[in-house]
Order: sequence, then structure tokens, then C-alpha cells
Amino acid sequence: MAEFIDGFLRSHNCGQLTASQIGEQVTLVGWVQDHRSLGGGHLFVVLRDRYGVTQLKFDGEALPEVFATAEKLRSEWVIGVRGAVIDRGSNANADLPTGGIEVEVHELKIFNRSATPPFVIRDEIDAAENLRLTYRYLDLRRPVLASNIIRRSRVVSTVRRVLESHDFLDLETPMMTRSTPEGARDYLVPSRVHPGQFYALPQSPQLFKQLYMVSGFDRYYQIVRCFRDEDLRADRQPEFTQIDIEASFIDTETLFKICEELVTSVFAEVVGKKLSAPFPRLSYTEAMSRYGVDAPDTRYELFLNELSAAVAGCEFKVFTEALAAGGVVKALVVPGGAGFSRKDITLLEDIAKAYGAKGLAWTRVTDNGFDAGIAKYIEASSGAAIREVLGCASGDLLLFGADALNVVNAALGNVRKEVAAKLGLIDPNAVNLVWVTEFPMFEWNAEAQRWHAMHHPFTSPRAQDMPLLSENPGAVLAQAYDLVLNGVELGGGSIRIHDTEVQSQVFQTLGIGPEEAEEKFGFLLKALQFGAPPHGGLAFGLDRFVMLLCGAPSLRDVIAFPKTNRATDLMTAAPSSVAEAQLKELYLKTVGLEEK
Ligand code: AMO
Ligand code: AMP
Repeated sequence: MAEFIDGFLRSHNCGQLTASQIGEQVTLVGWVQDHRSLGGGHLFVVLRDRYGVTQLKFDGEALPEVFATAEKLRSEWVIGVRGAVIDRGSNANADLPTGGIEVEVHELKIFNRSATPPFVIRDEIDAAENLRLTYRYLDLRRPVLASNIIRRSRVVSTVRRVLESHDFLDLETPMMTRSTPEGARDYLVPSRVHPGQFYALPQSPQLFKQLYMVSGFDRYYQIVRCFRDEDLRADRQPEFTQIDIEASFIDTETLFKICEELVTSVFAEVVGKKLSAPFPRLSYTEAMSRYGVDAPDTRYELFLNELSAAVAGCEFKVFTEALAAGGVVKALVVPGGAGFSRKDITLLEDIAKAYGAKGLAWTRVTDNGFDAGIAKYIEASSGAAIREVLGCASGDLLLFGADALNVVNAALGNVRKEVAAKLGLIDPNAVNLVWVTEFPMFEWNAEAQRWHAMHHPFTSPRAQDMPLLSENPGAVLAQAYDLVLNGVELGGGSIRIHDTEVQSQVFQTLGIGPEEAEEKFGFLLKALQFGAPPHGGLAFGLDRFVMLLCGAPSLRDVIAFPKTNRATDLMTAAPSSVAEAQLKELYLKTVGLEEK
């Protein structure tokens, strides 16, 4: 029986042929990217597959029948060809790996036709992203996108190789489970068998990986899907993948070393970039004080400066009132920024306001003191002191934040990013990794009037801070760390609590009473009683890792079938409503839809 492939098994792929195969007979298969007749009885087709493109040449005089079939070809038809590799001579295309040759076709097989694609399948296209997402399988034929997805696969194999070389086992955890406290909303799955009850999709495998440690599996990893119902951004998807790691009898130094090997191996093997390790470290306090954010972009030297003391006696009410209210005044020196226009400054002020600031005071540095902005309020009283602290020079622009410390940090920390972009301070080829360590254990939630775990409630406080747990929770530092790449949080983790007593104390500080703790995490607390070893770990965001590795602007560019910013899948039209009968079976009813 004839097979569909009909003897057209490929001898080479479309990215493979070069001058060294000239004269060989080859068989290629793929999609028609381009077809153009140049007159003179010649037709050229560009054939594409995942590996690249190869030019095909059809000669009307030599093989009129094959030529006549070739004339019918249209974009995205699937074909097979047999022919001879020939030199392209003076028509060579130096930009293509296969640009020196073409294949003179003497046999053509049409495997399938294609409807006219809704957009041209090429790297440089201006089709709207929503259209491309609706036809994602076509979008994925575009080489830029395809190469991101291929790199993603390479990242995963490198990660597996490195971790397995250190005895990590690839172990699975359930997808239908109980809520894990990672801070987002859960995606729920209704139970038919238990009406009115729900499973939660995991926000991370946190609890299960700790249970593996109790079981003695010692070194665990998993490339695992996680689900979080949160507000989406370019670097957040509702379903994303973690490289999830946990180990027993390990200290942070050993863990960091393994992670550094993982990251440097991925960069070396996937994009041929050599990074040096160990990566620098920054305490959380230091990061916040110098960069204003806990995931600092260390590619450029632009620092926030503490000015509270220097401006304490100034006449600018905004400053003195902020200080009187227990706040701070910090400043950012924009080197050579005196040339920024009012419009530029207003844009920066808008960013500051978006992060909660009431404004963004500014002034210019000249040879004769400060000029414009708030110059008249500060020059006489604190000009010299400010200049001494900032070490600024004529031609600089000064930007000030005055408010509660967290507001000033967030505002200036984000203004800093825009300033760096505007001044062209960011080297697009730089890869700056930094471990941020010594996070506070708790953060105060003013709205709820209670402490929250900054990482998660299973993170261990530093041994020396244990006594502070009940007296001064705000001063307790955690054995928690993040790995930051060019200002993006790539991963984070901690050494965990392995002692039930400490775990109960932490729950108490968090205002989780014994009953609630038992209800939510009883199984973990119980497990900790049965010989839990000291353990810790972390998780990398695989999607973010690949995004940064590929220099892609959005996670959507490195996930084959992503969701939009509104958490929809345009291709399958998910989420969707379901039949009444299906709801009934689950004892579910939708209410309040009209108001929405
Ligand atoms: P965390 O919540 O910090 O830690 O998540 C780890 C890493 O996962 C990535 N990430 C995301 N990527 C894409 N879209 C999202 N919505 C999203 N949310 C998180 C980030 C982040 O650094 N169980 C702990 C890890 C541990 O303690 O071992 C956890 O999940 O890159
Ligand atoms: P105003 O006195 O309100 O006109 O403000 C004078 C300048 O101070 C303007 O440039 C404001 O943007 C700025 N400003 C106001 N409040 C703050 C604040 N809390 N921190 C920094 N700048 C501020």
C-alpha cells in the first residue's frame, strides 16, 4: 500500500545544505514560504521547515510537467522535492546559512494544500497579536517564535542534565490538590463526587516537595506547571512553568553553587554566552536602599541616595513634612540630565505617581548652585549639604522623593529604570545576575492589620532571629533568597522550617490560629513530626528564564500556547461557558453575572 510520504523521506533538512553538498541528489520536505517566477522559464520557491529555508529552482524548459505543477504552488502548501544541489553563484545570499546553494528540482510531490493564511508567515510582520494568537499554530511557523520554543526545549534538557548530575530525581506532584499559600488566588476545580467541594490547582508544588524531603528522597526537581489567578503583566501568566528544586541536608552555599552551575550551563549551551560565577550578592536592605526595589537591575550604576539628614533644616515643606511624619527624603542624580525637558520630567513624575508618590520634586545643578524646580527652597538652607552627599556635578538633574520609605523607594526605584533607558545606560548584551538575600521574614499589611509572610509561611527565620519572632516580627530576617537577572526576579526560595514548634510560632505571628493551621496545613505539620530533615530549595520561572535568554519582550513569546493579558486563550476560545447539564452534575450555579 502506498504511504502518504510516498518515498519522499528527507535526506536533509531545510537549514542544512551548503556548498559542500554541491552535486549531491537530495530530498527535502517542508512548507512553501515564497514562490516567484522570474520569467525566462524559471520559478523559484523558498521551502521552509523548523531548521531553516532552502531555495528551490524549477526549470520550465528541461522539465515542463514538474514546472506546471510548481506553478500551482501557493504559500504554506506542504511539499516534497528531489533534485540536485547547485551553486547559486553570483546570486548567493550571504545572510542565509543555505544562501550559497539552491536545489534544482526534478521531482515534486504535493502532500497538502493550505488555505490562504490570515497573515504572512515571516519574522517581520505587522499582523495584530490577537490575530496571531488566534492562529497560533501558524504564528509558531515564524522563525523567531519557533527558535524561542526550540531554545526552551534546550534549556529544559540542560537543566535536567545539570540537576541529574547532582543526584536530583525528577519527581511528580499532584495537579488536583489543596490550596498552596503562594499569595495569589487559586484556580479551583469542582468535585462531582463531593458536591460543593473543590480541588485547587497548585500555585507551586511547595508542600509536596517538602513532603518528599520527609520521605527521604533527598534531592528533588520537577519542571512543573503552576497556576495563579493574579493580575497579569508581560512577565506573568496564569499558568506558567517552574524549575522546582528541593534538597535535604544542604546549606544555601551548596544550593547557590548548584543553581549557578545550572544558570551558567544554560547560557553557555543554549546561547553560547559565558557567564562568570559565583554571582554577586546583595542583602535585601542594601538592594532597597540603593535601588529602591528588591529585584534591582544592576546593569547600570545609578543609585538612590539618602538625603533626610541633609535636608532636615530646609524650607521646602514637602520635605520637612515628610520627615516630620516619620518618612524619608531620597534623591536620584541623573548625570547630564539638566537637558531633560519639562515634558521629560513630567513623564518621570507620572511614573513616580503611579507608584504612590505625591510628586517628583526636581532641580538642575549648575556652576552657580541649583537652578529651577525646587532650587529656591533648598539652595540657601541645604544646598551645600545636598551637594556634598550627592557628589553631583554641573549639568546633572536631581530628582527627589519625600514620603514613607516604601513609597519613596518604589517611586524612585521605578523612575530610575526609565532614566536609565532614556540615557541609554542599559547594555542590551549584558547579563547581570545577583542573589538578593536576607529578606525580612514578615511584612506588615496595613489594610488587614496583620503580618504576612514575605516569601511563604514555611520559610525559616535565621537562627539568631528566632527569639524576635514574638517580640519584634518586623526585625526577623528569613533564610530566603531571590536570583535576579537584569532586574527581573528569575527565581526564589528559602531554607524551610523543619521543626513543628517553630512552624507553630510562625503561624502564630501570621495570625493563623491552631485550628486554621490544622485545617489548611495539618498534613504538613503532622509530617514535620515524623523526622523531617533540615531542607530548603527554590524555584526558577522557566518562562522568564527563556524570555530573558531570548531577549523576548513578553512571556507570550516563549510559551507555545499562551494566554492574553485577560487570561484568555484566543485560539481555543477558553475560558468558555459550559452546558447547563454539566453545571448541574457538579451542583454548580452561576449567580450575579448580570452585574458583571
Ligand atoms: P515564587 O512564588 O517566588 O516561589 O515563584 C518562583 C518563580 O516563579 C516565577 N513566577 C512566574 N512566572 C510567570 N508567571 C507567573 N505568574 C509567575 N509567578 C511566579 C518567577 C518566580 O521567581 N514555592 C516557591 C519556591 C520555593 O520556595 O522553593 C515559589 O513558588 O520567576
Ligand atoms: P507643590 O509644592 O505641591 O507645588 O510641589 C512642588 C514640587 O514638589 C513639585 O515638583 C511636586 O511634584 C513635588 N512634590 C510634591 N510632593 C512630593 C513628594 N511627596 N515627594 C517628592 N516630590 C513632591
